[in-house]
Amino acid sequence: MTVSPADQAPSANDTVRKESDRVIVFDTTMRDGEQSPGASMSLDEKLELAKILEEMKVDVIEAGFPIASNGDFEAVRKISEIVTESTICGLARAGMADIERAAEAIRPAKRGRIHTFLSTSPSHRDHILRASQEDILEMITKSVTHARNLCDDVEWSAQDATRTEQDFLRRCVDAAIKAGAGTVNLPDTVGYSYPSEYADIFRDILEHVDGADRIILSTHCHNDLGLAVANSLAGVQGGARQIEVAMNGIGERAGNAALEEVVMALKVRGDRLPYFTNIETQHITRASRYTSAITGFPVQFNKAIVGKNAFAHESGIHQDGMLKDRGTYEIMSPETVGQGASNLVMGKHAGRAGFREKLKELGYELGQNALNEAFQRFKDLADKKKHVFDDDIIALVDDALASG
Ligand code: KIV
Ligand code: ZN
Repeated sequence: MTVSPADQAPSANDTVRKESDRVIVFDTTMRDGEQSPGASMSLDEKLELAKILEEMKVDVIEAGFPIASNGDFEAVRKISEIVTESTICGLARAGMADIERAAEAIRPAKRGRIHTFLSTSPSHRDHILRASQEDILEMITKSVTHARNLCDDVEWSAQDATRTEQDFLRRCVDAAIKAGAGTVNLPDTVGYSYPSEYADIFRDILEHVDGADRIILSTHCHNDLGLAVANSLAGVQGGARQIEVAMNGIGERAGNAALEEVVMALKVRGDRLPYFTNIETQHITRASRYTSAITGFPVQFNKAIVGKNAFAHESGIHQDGMLKDRGTYEIMSPETVGQGASNLVMGKHAGRAGFREKLKELGYELGQNALNEAFQRFKDLADKKKHVFDDDIIALVDDALASG
């Protein structure tokens, strides 16, 4: 089979890329991902996952919420000790105790980050914080300043940014930048935004807030309407240069944008769009399977990139196309994401070309008559049986050969 287009997409070696188009990958599998009900991970599991993410060249690993529990504190601290290539980040609310606990947890890190957040939307201001706009602005200044006194790398997030009045959001971002935040994240906390709308929020901030072009703006998209990946990509087009994502898209409620999907969308469409990440994508499937194993959350068969059917082809027309040129039905190769080889599935929709290829793989070279006979027997069996295994095919071919 010939090479898929994605495998020919520009790579760091053959294309001159602008650093300003690089998208920082911030993985929150162990923080927002772990907030999926039932997804908690042990310390050892987190350490192992952190090593895989580091190997994959994730830029920032959000390892936990240190004030939430002693276990979370310990995980962030231990990961800070063993990971040297990625920045290790701990989450904190706007209170001084939260920020100090996060600072303590990331202290051993070669590169550490405090990520502090505060809600900005009217709904959260009125119902959760009972705070005025002026109170919020003061809290942003105080919390970011305090975090900056403890750590050089501070990220500030406007929780529920997408339901915040845009003129107030500008003032919040301005306060965070003035207090020293190097990254400002504008989360779509409840997965409410549309892609075009989300892109415009970033464009507006870049246009109206002094200094916004000198810091990194970040996306953080939840998947309540199934738009988390589309919104993350739109955010990048609007000017964001960090994406907050989780393996397999796990996270609060319907989850976060899936790391593997956003990263591969940027890579596969590198032919048209200039944005790129430093992720070594061949580690993606291993990271996905490990995340699934430790959380107990299965990966759906048809999940993009990492699902077991993502590179499986059942229909005769597709199999015939694949055998002639992989690019006919694959926009990236399974090898690019560490999924092994493409799979021509022997089901009732399989065609003669795929069947012949399968026989070759099993060591048979049949003449036309024997092939016709075996193919007919295979089709009859596939009509009755959901899964036709290699052993079934061997049995029916041997039978056809014996009776022929
Ligand atoms: O969804 C959200 O707003 C968050 C913040 C804590 C960044 O997870
Ligand atoms: Zn979130």
